[in-house]
Amino acid sequence: MSDPPARPLIEFELVTLFPELFDGFLGASLLGKAIAAGLLAVHRTALRDFGAGRHRSVDDTPYGGGPGMILRAPPLAAALQSLEAARGSAHKVLLTPQGALFSQQKAAELAQRGRVALICGRYEGTDERVGTVLCDEQISIGDYVLAGGELAAAVIIEAVARLVPGVLGCGLSAVDESFSQGRLEYPQWTRPLSFQGETVPSILLSGDHKAIDRWRKIEGLRRTQQRRPDLLVAHPLTDEEKQLLAGSDGGDT
Ligand code: 6GU
Repeated sequence: MSDPPARPLIEFELVTLFPELFDGFLGASLLGKAIAAGLLAVHRTALRDFGAGRHRSVDDTPYGGGPGMILRAPPLAAALQSLEAARGSAHKVLLTPQGALFSQQKAAELAQRGRVALICGRYEGTDERVGTVLCDEQISIGDYVLAGGELAAAVIIEAVARLVPGVLGCGLSAVDESFSQGRLEYPQWTRPLSFQGETVPSILLSGDHKAIDRWRKIEGLRRTQQRRPDLLVAHPLTDEEKQLLAGSDGGDT
C-alpha cells in the first residue's frame, strides 16, 4: 500500500454513551484497513465522561412531565467543546428519528465536509437545544425508531466513507449505482448460467456492448417504476428515458 496521506481524507467524531458498540464495525476489514492506512479517522468521545456528579449523570426527567429520560444539553456541549479543542472544528450532526431523512445526496455532501461529528441520541429524547444550539443539522436514517443513534452513525460512516476515493475501493462506481441519479441499478448475474431453472438473459451473452448498455438502462428504469415509483416523482423521467422505455418491448431479453 502507498504511504498514508498527511491528513485523513475524512474524519468522523462520534459522541456516544456506548463507544464500545463501534469496536467490531470499525475493526472490520474495509473500514479497518482504511483507518490503518490513515485515509479515514474515527474518534470516539464517551459522553459519560462529561456527565455531572458522582454518577456522571447525562439525563434528566422532561419539563412538563411524561415518561422517559431526556439527554441533557450541558454534557453534550462539554463533549463537543473537548473534541473540537483537541482536533479542530467539525460539522455537527444530531442523530435523531426527527431529523431530515438521510440519502445518497446527503452522504455526498458530508463526504465534502472533511470533519463530521455524529452525536448519538439515546434515551427517550434529547434536549431540544442540542439540535438547535449545538448542532448544524439533524439526520434520521429512516422512518422507524432505534434505541439510539449508534447504528445510524455506523450507517452514515459507511455510506460516506465509500464515496471518498481510496477509502472503500475505488470511489468511482458511485456513478451507475442505485440512487445516484434517483434510479435503481439494473439487475446483475454471474455464473452459473442456469440456476434452479432460471437462466441469465441472453442479451448479456451477446457481446454487443451497445445493446447491453441500452438494455441495462431500460431494466434499471423498469425496476425503478415497479419498486420505487416515489423516485420517479422526485426525479422525473428524462426525454431520453421516455424514448428508451417506449422503444422497448417490455420483455426481459
Ligand atoms: Cl438517527 N436515531 C434513532 N434513535 N432512531 C432512528 C434514527 C436515528 N433514524 C431512524 N431511526
